[in-house]
Amino acid sequence: MQTVDTRSALRDLVAQWRLSGETLAFVPTMGNLHAGHLTLLAKAREVADRVVASIFVNPLQFGPFEDYDQYPRTPDSDERMLTEMGVDLLFAPRVKEMYPLGREQGTKVEVPGISDILCGMQRPGHFVGVATVVAKLFNLVQPDYAIFGEKDFQQLVVIRRMTLDLCLPVKVLGAPTHREADGLAMSSRNQYLTPQERAVAPTLHQTISDVARDIREGRSDFADLCDWAAARLAESGFRPHYVEVRDADDLGKAHSDSEELVVLAAAQLGRARLIDNVRV
Ligand code: PAF
Repeated sequence: MQTVDTRSALRDLVAQWRLSGETLAFVPTMGNLHAGHLTLLAKAREVADRVVASIFVNPLQFGPFEDYDQYPRTPDSDERMLTEMGVDLLFAPRVKEMYPLGREQGTKVEVPGISDILCGMQRPGHFVGVATVVAKLFNLVQPDYAIFGEKDFQQLVVIRRMTLDLCLPVKVLGAPTHREADGLAMSSRNQYLTPQERAVAPTLHQTISDVARDIREGRSDFADLCDWAAARLAESGFRPHYVEVRDADDLGKAHSDSEELVVLAAAQLGRARLIDNVRV
């Protein structure tokens, strides 16, 4: 695996592959890789000749009181895992390389509407940060495919919309959420949990799975179901941010014509903000 940290070195390598007619799949990450990321990389390997990964803890998507400084950074083990997964190229830029004009001065990409609901309501500016960095990375890597985890379901919807609206020639693919044996969705932030909190954490997935089951069995009183779910989370020690049933296509309010629904939840447990979703 080759590792580069400048845009010019990245562009040179990508240009060579493009010239020889090879296809590219791209997996953007913030590092601290776990088994969930490996699923994304395996999918990338399946669909294209060359796999490019990036590691960049993107300051633009963290709010002023969020965990940008504490976000786990594990470059050595990340590089080992990427090499084992057969990744061809790692792009690991510094902040200045991605935001040469500074974080605030550069052009930003905003996907209106869906960026301001659910997690976006709790984390103003978060999805502008995500859309901006992903648009820049797409322009640099110029992949045929880009793979994102379905755990961050709203992020996936935002990126799909951005790609469509900006006519970017990238196929955005989702990969199923990778879970621990007890159902907890894998996330770098799980390591913020104390052993006691870790024991409680799977309740998030159990609760939204129960809501999804009730909907499958015919219940349509979504607001009551979500109130019940939020109360169960609160009783278990979470501080629920939201539990919502939404249209899986655009995250609009669920309605009778919705082809597929998704139950989404976010809740604080100690230092960790956990998110999860289950499709119905
Ligand atoms: O999901 C992530 O790790 C990040 O939000 C992403 C897509 C790499 C953008 O910084």
